[in-house]
Amino acid sequence: MTSATQPLPLRETPHVPGWPIIGSLPAMAKDPAQFFVDCYRKYGPVCRLSVLGQRYVLIAGVEAANFLGTREGKECLRSKEFWQGLVEEYGATRVLTGEDGESHKQLRDIMRRGYSKESIKGRYNELVEITDRAILRDWKPGQKVPVVQAMQYMVVDQLGTILTGAAPLEYVKDIRTMILYILNVLVTRQRPKILLKRPKYRKAKARVFELGYKMIEQAKARYGKVPEDQRNLIDDIYAAHVETPTVMPASDLIVSLTGPYVAGLDTVANTTAAVVYTVLKHPEVKARVLAEVDALFANGAIEEEDLLKRIPALQGAIMETMRLYPIAVAQMRTATRDFVFEGHLIRKGEMIYIGTSVPHFMDEYFPDAKRFDIDRYSKPRAEHMQPGAYSPFGRGPHTCLGKSLAEIQIALTMARVFYKLELELVSPHYTLKTKTAPTPGPAMNFKVRVKGYRH
Ligand code: HEM
Repeated sequence: MTSATQPLPLRETPHVPGWPIIGSLPAMAKDPAQFFVDCYRKYGPVCRLSVLGQRYVLIAGVEAANFLGTREGKECLRSKEFWQGLVEEYGATRVLTGEDGESHKQLRDIMRRGYSKESIKGRYNELVEITDRAILRDWKPGQKVPVVQAMQYMVVDQLGTILTGAAPLEYVKDIRTMILYILNVLVTRQRPKILLKRPKYRKAKARVFELGYKMIEQAKARYGKVPEDQRNLIDDIYAAHVETPTVMPASDLIVSLTGPYVAGLDTVANTTAAVVYTVLKHPEVKARVLAEVDALFANGAIEEEDLLKRIPALQGAIMETMRLYPIAVAQMRTATRDFVFEGHLIRKGEMIYIGTSVPHFMDEYFPDAKRFDIDRYSKPRAEHMQPGAYSPFGRGPHTCLGKSLAEIQIALTMARVFYKLELELVSPHYTLKTKTAPTPGPAMNFKVRVKGYRH
């Protein structure tokens, strides 16, 4: 063997010191994004840590983000173990987020159209109407509005109407409770399993299943009657069940049909709530955003073509918020086989956090990274285009399937909220408090004052 072909010696992987039994739980629970950045700075792209007795490898930085999209990354990483608990809890055989390879592709193909931007083509003005309805209902002048909660109702109204044909607002609390328990107990495993026996959870689960059965009935009634170009996500999932029941068995219908709420509720509600904060906190940004949205709605109905390009200040504010307040700090995977990453041996079966948000907080990629700077994303700076630097929607085969839909949904929601409402922080010195579980985002007690209507 020549020296050129000799493998490099393996590096010793550092261990992050932690507390007895709970390990690194306190640091992770306090601020997971900062914890992963600190680990990266101190230990480099690979380290090991433990949380509640479970050992994990943390791989982070642009190296890790880019690895997710490589062939080796696809072969060496899988999602199954993290989602298996959810699959069993629903009595299903598989779920989109937990599959990899061919099986994953099969499910993504069924759901691609329903989750895509195409699903709201021609419906932007309808989305605006739903947003207006939610504003009138939950954002009353003179009141202090709990922003995350108000956004949750708005998001369910929007996603329900657009993706499934109905807005099940009476189930919002149940969906949230179920997401909270499942993500905390079964997916991220930050809480003990015994919690799933709580009556509060059992009741919420029964209600979400009730919603699921109603959705099945609706889909059944529509099957074969809706023209191809008007089919929504629910129609596509149900058609797959009828036409290829081995691919979409009856047992998998509820988890798939209620999927948009699990995937879209906390993610969009937390992100839009954070945008409310960042824009109000920066008066110079607010002035630019208001000028833009006033022009956008000046003629009543809006043009769909190139919407995001026509609101660069708002789009910059949204992207900057998603950089600084990512709802997915890391992706979770298991090693399918032994592999070497950045000179470190990772063993088959090890659980891995992939800290894709770490570069978001690094001056090397986003100069003066702590600064809220909405012009980072326009050319020639385009800081987010550096490979592996910006991953709010994840990376690799599981990259957010609702990304392009979410981008429009978030932009239109924020455009309409700022167009319609005169909002202010309860104090100009207010600094956002955040929560980390089940999805990182503004704390539930974050409120803004509605001073009145602008339009
Ligand atoms: C702020 C908005 C959103 C953000 C930041 C976001 C982020 C993410 C991330 C990071 C993942 C990858 C998880 C992983 O690799 O383990 C993901 C997956 C996914 N997202 Fe989103 N998401 C958002 C909104 C939405 C919306 C509105 C929908 C649809 C209603 C949606 C549907 C999905 C689906 C179906 C997946 C699973 C994809 C797969 O496993 O193949 N997301 N999202």
